[in-house]
Amino acid sequence: MEIRDSVAFVTGANRGLGLAFARELLGRGAKKVYAGIRNPVANSLPGIVPVKVDVTDPASVSTAAAHCGDVTLLINNAGIGRVNAGALDPAVIESACEIFETNFYGMVRVSQAFAPVLLANGGGAIINVLSDATWFARPVLTAYSASKSAAWSFTNALRIELRENGIQVLALHVGFLDTDMAKGLDVKKSDPQQVASRALDALENGSEEVLADAQSNAVKRSLSSDQAYYLDPPDLFV
Ligand SMILES: NC(=O)c1ccc[n+]([C@@H]2O[C@H](COP(=O)([O-])OP(=O)(O)OC[C@H]3O[C@@H](n4cnc5c(N)ncnc54)[C@H](OP(=O)(O)O)[C@@H]3O)[C@@H](O)[C@H]2O)c1
Repeated sequence: MEIRDSVAFVTGANRGLGLAFARELLGRGAKKVYAGIRNPVANSLPGIVPVKVDVTDPASVSTAAAHCGDVTLLINNAGIGRVNAGALDPAVIESACEIFETNFYGMVRVSQAFAPVLLANGGGAIINVLSDATWFARPVLTAYSASKSAAWSFTNALRIELRENGIQVLALHVGFLDTDMAKGLDVKKSDPQQVASRALDALENGSEEVLADAQSNAVKRSLSSDQAYYLDPPDLFV
């Protein structure tokens, strides 16, 4: 899909990777970028149109889709993470309920609301922001990883269903990013602007999956080997 002259809707575009996507889209000539955010502020960047949306709230999602009838590219970026003591931490269930509401049901909800908009506009694309955690569950991120695996599965089903309607569905997998979500973690992190740029390059190349950093590449490559990272994680990844 061509970014130039597209009209994008990016969830969670007020900071982190979502804001990087919004900037990158404008830089590549998108006609309009709707920033789907929970608490819109008046002074956003020129070319960015703030739209109030909470992906956990069905009414706000359907109102946003009704308001933004010209969208041709949806980026499901909004996400949350929670750290637990490990897989046996009783709080995993509570964390998973909270995280799934945003990372999984939120993605399903927003995709279902906007797919008819894309179809009415003749096709387009959806980018779903996933993670290397899709394929590798660090115990402290048990609930988060489960939500990204579920979101990956939904993305795969969505791709098959929408492909015949001319809608490209791109899964973005990436390891830690230098954003608020990973603040305080002493790990190697990628620059969100670079990751947004790689994802949009992949979209423009017609790809359906992008591994945006070395870490997600290594995790994916390991899957079919005897030493898949989910069985035998290198220390670096735990
Ligand atoms: N950071 C990482 O290491 C990393 C690695 C791989 C993948 N990812 C994924 O990348 C995506 C972006 O994360 P990030 O690193 O940019 O995190 P971030 O800096 O914490 O930003 C998260 C964004 O999501 C928004 N959001 C959260 N819940 C929402 C809801 N219910 N409705 C609407 N917006 C909501 C936040 O809005 P508020 O400002 O209102 O809270 C914020 O704009 C997520 O899907 C995340 O899982 C992150």
